[in-house]
Amino acid sequence: MSSIKVKMSLMYALVLLLPALAFGQTVNLKPYNLTATAMFLQTDTDLSGDIDRPELDASFRDYDTDRNGRVSRTEYMTYLSIHTPSLAALHDALFDIYDVDNDHILDHHDYDNFFGLMDGNGDGFVSHFEYVRYWTILLQDLEHLHLDN
Ligand SMILES: *[C@@H]1O[C@H](CO)[C@@H](O)[C@H](O)[C@H]1NC(C)=O
Repeated sequence: MSSIKVKMSLMYALVLLLPALAFGQTVNLKPYNLTATAMFLQTDTDLSGDIDRPELDASFRDYDTDRNGRVSRTEYMTYLSIHTPSLAALHDALFDIYDVDNDHILDHHDYDNFFGLMDGNGDGFVSHFEYVRYWTILLQDLEHLHLDN
């Protein structure tokens, strides 16, 4: 991505994310590819154009309020219900997707698996294309949990 394109996308990301910051406001995630792009830019903190494993780990760190290296369902839902309360049903379903071993705790091996799901060509990096493809399908599949909420 050229730096001009990155800056344009960041502007879109801000426009998209600002409404979500207002407490209790409904959130429209359509078009999903733009929401996915905004999420990608938030996760790709070094703006390399790819998400690597440390960046994925870091994206879950905010939820880990007791800083024990693991994210419980309670930590995750508490954090997200403050930030986007109208998306609680979606977040609950996403937790189940992240939590592959179904132990209600997110940790390193859940992130390994989730990273693998997004890393379509298995090269160890999740490109913007791979990320947007994965998340657009996921947000579509889970549409019943976040549309008209
Ligand atoms: C999102 O999808 C629309 C319709 O397919 C397309 O026109 C647009 O370029 C896409 N935007 C991004 C950022 O992928």
